[in-house]
Amino acid sequence: MRIILLGAPGTGKGTQASFISKKYNIPHISTGNILRSVIKSGNKLGLYINDLMNNGKLINDDLVISLIKNRIKENDCCNGFLFDGFPRTIFQANAMKEAFIKIDYIFELIVSDEIIINRIIGRRTHVSSGRIYHIIFNPPKNVNKDDITGEELVVRDDDQENIIRKRLIEYHKLTIPLIGYFQNEDKKGNLKFFKIDSSRGIFEINNELLKILNWLFIYKCMFNINNQWIF
Ligand code: AP5
Repeated sequence: MRIILLGAPGTGKGTQASFISKKYNIPHISTGNILRSVIKSGNKLGLYINDLMNNGKLINDDLVISLIKNRIKENDCCNGFLFDGFPRTIFQANAMKEAFIKIDYIFELIVSDEIIINRIIGRRTHVSSGRIYHIIFNPPKNVNKDDITGEELVVRDDDQENIIRKRLIEYHKLTIPLIGYFQNEDKKGNLKFFKIDSSRGIFEINNELLKILNWLFIYKCMFNINNQWIF
């Protein structure tokens, strides 16, 4: 199963990805998390990425593509993977196609910009695991502590309102064109594209995603590779 969660910052990609990845036992590959781990290393590349991220800008396409190509070579990707935040430009999508990285399903999560700002301002993150909380909508059991390790939660550097607004501008300019691109791929029968209303509660969205994925899985099992009914 090869899945992409597409959507603006704060639409809930990371939150839903963690449920899907657990349920289907596929790795959750977040380019944001990979880039943040490069920043943590403190080298020159990390400083360059940090600067762009904190200005709400996307990172250079070639760099992101090479990080992804390396990541999917790892053994845990043999049964599929879930991309969260990749691709984000037409260039990245074309590079993925040229590298024969085939995708089965794409879910576009849709929420208004104002809801997004409220969600991101209240987000708290557990850095080492990537677990995501919200002070109101998904609070930890103990204030500002990770549920599993008890370690302190943090506010991401790029989760300031002025930076979020810049990230949204980048999303509208560079990532929105991908919607038409993938809808076209869906028409050609290369993948399936779904729009999900992500303004609802976390578990309602999750139920819908899992219901669709279960149906797709059953449907896939009933056809053989020549697209003919097995039964
Ligand atoms: P990245 O880390 O990918 O951030 P993002 O795409 O901006 O998305 P977020 O992580 O902010 O939000 P999310 O949709 O995952 O929402 P979440 O589930 O956390 O990228 C960061 C930066 O890295 C980019 O700006 C760019 O610089 C760079 N980058 C990354 N990928 C790149 C690429 N491919 N190319 C170039 N540059 C790249 O939820 C948000 C909050 O809302 C949480 O608090 C959560 O608890 C809460 N919440 C979630 N769902 C709900 C709900 N249904 N109801 C109420 N609250 C909810």
